[in-house]
Order: sequence, then structure tokens, then C-alpha cells
Amino acid sequence: MPKQIDKKIWAEQLLAAFDGNIDAAIDALRQAESAVKQARKPKVMPTGPVLVSVENLSKKYKVGRQHVQALNSVSLDIHEGEFVAFTGPSGSGKSTLLQLIGGLDKPSEGTITVDGKNLTKLSDRHLSKFRNQTIGFVFQFFYLQPFLRLETNLEVPGMFARTKRRERTQTAAELADAVGLKDRLRHLPKELSGGQMQRAAIARALLNRPKLILADEPTGNLDSTNGTAIIDLFEQVRKDFGTTIIIVTHDPKVAAHADREIVLEDGEIKL
Ligand SMILES: Nc1ncnc2c1ncn2[C@@H]1O[C@H](COP(=O)(O)OP(=O)(O)OP(=O)(O)O)[C@@H](O)[C@H]1O
Ligand SMILES: [Mg+2]
Repeated sequence: MPKQIDKKIWAEQLLAAFDGNIDAAIDALRQAESAVKQARKPKVMPTGPVLVSVENLSKKYKVGRQHVQALNSVSLDIHEGEFVAFTGPSGSGKSTLLQLIGGLDKPSEGTITVDGKNLTKLSDRHLSKFRNQTIGFVFQFFYLQPFLRLETNLEVPGMFARTKRRERTQTAAELADAVGLKDRLRHLPKELSGGQMQRAAIARALLNRPKLILADEPTGNLDSTNGTAIIDLFEQVRKDFGTTIIIVTHDPKVAAHADREIVLEDGEIKL
């Protein structure tokens, strides 16, 4: 039977099943389509306790007389152990949202709760302590200290957390090993490749065993092989430590690795 006729019969049968109500038939089709899409995605749906809760979050920047609404009433929950990707066009508010969740900036309106703490209510001192204990940051440009050898760079978060020196050194060496850089501990950042620098930045972010990793375009500066290695490393970190991971990315391949993609557009979540 030609395909066209096949489709016609199918449509007629569908319409008959809904007593000729076209709207109801279209609705049912849409639902079926979205069910098929969900079923195709072998994704883990969030089930564990909520780690990050954002409610009606807005951020306005003021530059001279100009006001920029970077985020407009964004609400979302992220569960423990989830791997979430923030995507969306340039200027849509991804980095702003990540920075607010990380307590690096204050919102204009709304609340951010991370690991049971309302960040908008914490003093600067408590906020910085909280950041150090709970969150590991990874950025596109690594931000390793250029004059410090890898071993010392890896220990920096432990210094802020006042961890004992011996423990710091041991954990830094273990983490370097975990990210495949055991034989590069005496190197300066400029003596590492881009992929190695990013792995080092991830190892550093892990030093205090954070519950949450926030990564802003962690593969943005890497070729696709190194980018894949970084995503695999995040997956391994999540498996080994149960770490919740939020990454901002422009790369659809990277986003496809996440359990959930949250798309931003003009400072709002695109549904
Ligand atoms: N410190 C700031 N002062 C003023 N405006 C800012 C500031 N930071 C960001 N913005 C503006 O807020 C909006 C959101 O910026 P944001 O950096 O969050 O976007 P983004 O989605 O991360 O973009 P990209 O993909 O290019 O990194 C943009 O219009 C930007 O110009
Ligand atoms: Mg950004």
C-alpha cells in the first residue's frame, strides 16, 4: 500500500477514535510524541533529595543608565546526584544563573537554597565558608595560578579550608592520580596541555569533596577528544563521589551527556 494512503487511513482511524474531535486527536498525538521522545532518552529522572532550589530568581545589572535583565523569575530544582546542563544562546543568562547558585553574586529578587541553606540570608563570611565546603568551581579558562606548580595549585582550596598540610598533600596527589596527572605534579600550568589544565582544574575543584560542581563551559576551550575526556571525568566523579554536577555548555554533544538539559532564553527557562 502506498505510504500516502496508509497515512490517510491511519488519520481517519485516529479521528474516529476521538469521535471526529480534531483538537482532542491532536492533543493525543502530541502526548504520544512527547512520550516517545522521553522513552528514547535513556535518562535518569531525578528522584533523590533536592540539593539546589531556585525560586523566582531575577538578576538585573545596571551599567550607567542601562538596565539589563539577565534573569527573569527563574525557578528550578536540582536533585542530589543529578548531572544537569544549562544551554541557550549567548547572553541568555547561563553564567549569571550558575554564579548565583554558586553564591558568587547576589540576586535582585528571589531565593537560592543549596544543601538546605538560603544563600541570600548568609553573611559574606558564612557564604564564602559555605562555598569552600560545598561547591567546586570549574571554568573555561581553568584559572590555575601560573606561578604555582600543579601540586600546590591542587592544594589551594585546602589552604582556604585550613586542612592540615599532610592531608592536603596526600589528597592532592590522590586527585592528580585520579585525573591522570600523577606524573605532572612538579609542572607549572604553562607546562601542561589544555586538556591537562582542565583536568587539573577539576581535580582542584574536588579537593574539599564538594557536594556540587559548577562548571562554566568546561570544554569550551578544548578540542572534541579532550572535551569528551572531561565529560567522562565528570561522569566518573559523579559515580565515585555522588557529586551533583551542573555545567553550562554550547555543545549539544556535551548537553546530551547530562540527565537533563535546561534551556535558557532571554533570562527565562524555555519550556
Ligand atoms: N557584570 C555584568 N554587568 C552588566 N551586565 C552583565 C554582567 N554580566 C552579564 N551581563 C549581561 O547579562 C546578560 C546575561 O549574561 P550571561 O553572562 O549570564 O550570559 P550567558 O548565557 O552566560 O552567555 P554566553 O553564552 O555568551 O557566556 C547578558 O546580556 C550580559 O550582557
Ligand atoms: Mg556565559
